[in-house]
Amino acid sequence: LNLLRTLIAEAPGPEAGAQRVVDELHNRFGHYDWVGIYWIDADAGELVLGPWTGPEATEHTRIPLGVGICGAAAVSGRTEIVDDVSADPRYLACFASTRSEIVVPIFAEGQVVGEIDIDGSDASAYDETDARFLEEVAALLAPLRPRAGG
Ligand code: SME
Repeated sequence: LNLLRTLIAEAPGPEAGAQRVVDELHNRFGHYDWVGIYWIDADAGELVLGPWTGPEATEHTRIPLGVGICGAAAVSGRTEIVDDVSADPRYLACFASTRSEIVVPIFAEGQVVGEIDIDGSDASAYDETDARFLEEVAALLAPLRPRAGG
């Protein structure tokens, strides 16, 4: 976490800082196959894809609140761990290789402002250790959210 703090502090701006965090998570953890941040656009009622890194782009660059595993976590404010995406009716497919997923909300001032979404190509890739770690990462990302008026 201290390394991530340093990456954020040395980045030229918030978007670059968030990108460095995403890249670092992807590079350091073999089971974080695709790592992205969605930010909430409250006016549109949607999640909007921010920085991401992984083998492929996702077609889901905007996800309505409540839709998919991402939309569910945004509404509930709870971390979602899905061991087998094919068994979860909420799942919005992005990549044919994905077997499991973890979505961790990012909070600011008591509200969900975004989330970390990580996809894995192994079943049951994520556990409570990932959840607790990523919840701490989410707290570092909260100040980097895009804000109205820049
Ligand atoms: N699988 C997500 C959609 C985002 S992609 O994984 C990048 C979901 O079900 O909400």
